[in-house]
Amino acid sequence: MKNFYSAADVADIERLVDQVIALKDQGLRTTATQGPGSGKRMLLLFFNSSLRTRLSTEIAARSLGMEVISMDMGQSWKWEITPGVVMSADSAEHIRDAAQVISSYVDIVGIRCFPTLQDRAADKRDALIKTFIRHADVPVVNLESAQLHPLQSLTDMATIRAHFAEKVPRIVLSWAPHPKALPHAVAQSFLQWAGAMQWQVTITHPDGYALPEDYTRGHHYEPDQRKALTDADVVYLKNWSSHDPYGQVLNTDPDWMMTTEKMALTNQGLCMHCMPIRRNVVATDEVLDSDCCIMYEQAAMREQAAQVVLQELLKDTGS
Ligand code: CP
Repeated sequence: MKNFYSAADVADIERLVDQVIALKDQGLRTTATQGPGSGKRMLLLFFNSSLRTRLSTEIAARSLGMEVISMDMGQSWKWEITPGVVMSADSAEHIRDAAQVISSYVDIVGIRCFPTLQDRAADKRDALIKTFIRHADVPVVNLESAQLHPLQSLTDMATIRAHFAEKVPRIVLSWAPHPKALPHAVAQSFLQWAGAMQWQVTITHPDGYALPEDYTRGHHYEPDQRKALTDADVVYLKNWSSHDPYGQVLNTDPDWMMTTEKMALTNQGLCMHCMPIRRNVVATDEVLDSDCCIMYEQAAMREQAAQVVLQELLKDTGS
């Protein structure tokens, strides 16, 4: 594997998912000094906040023996992304130069870069991470970009598969209320990876929240949330902002919040969320603190997912 930007970078998704589950089942908690990453460096660039992705990726890299450096990019030079531009405005460094310099220092780079939620065309291009990948000489891991969050999705697939080894589960992606305009990456990525697993997802959301066809193709839309939830095995909760008009909060109706009454419609379904989660807005405390909610298990699996991805990338860095 050369980079980990999307599901398309993975030759065999089911094998990767099974590797994550196997690593989790081993239950090992190691800090390797002689692992496959020994003598290698990983740089994590954060243009946005993170708790789970930052910790799990740092821990995974260290477990493989890598040296890890994390940078909050709010403290660094502002990067220019547009090619051929006269750099007389704010940006002090072009991304093509930064990518080349960084490639001379480290062996793998991780990047978190959220969308603007203002310019749909620019966000769709996912320009920052894609331009960095184009100019870097080392593998790049997507730590959540404007479009996709593949480490989260790999974790989500492994968490579901760990519970449903013998059956194809009935999965619902249910939009949830949120006071702020949030990115689309988790929901879009979830649909992309579920599709790659040959799992058809039922998507339910209010008017104005349709996701792009690139991601919904092969899945099913049901506008009535209660109908969608009926007999579901897995309920994946997530807010995202509107696509048309772009990047806005059009609906905060608490009737879309997950409740025990709605979970009772499911087939004793499991409730998932990528976290962070706003309690009593996205779902009630009663749901989140019940046995049906597996979001802590899901968050814990982020470590094994990151480790498996880094192991695959290290194979291509000559270790
Ligand atoms: N789910 C997730 O990516 O969490 P963080 O934003 O805390 O990294």
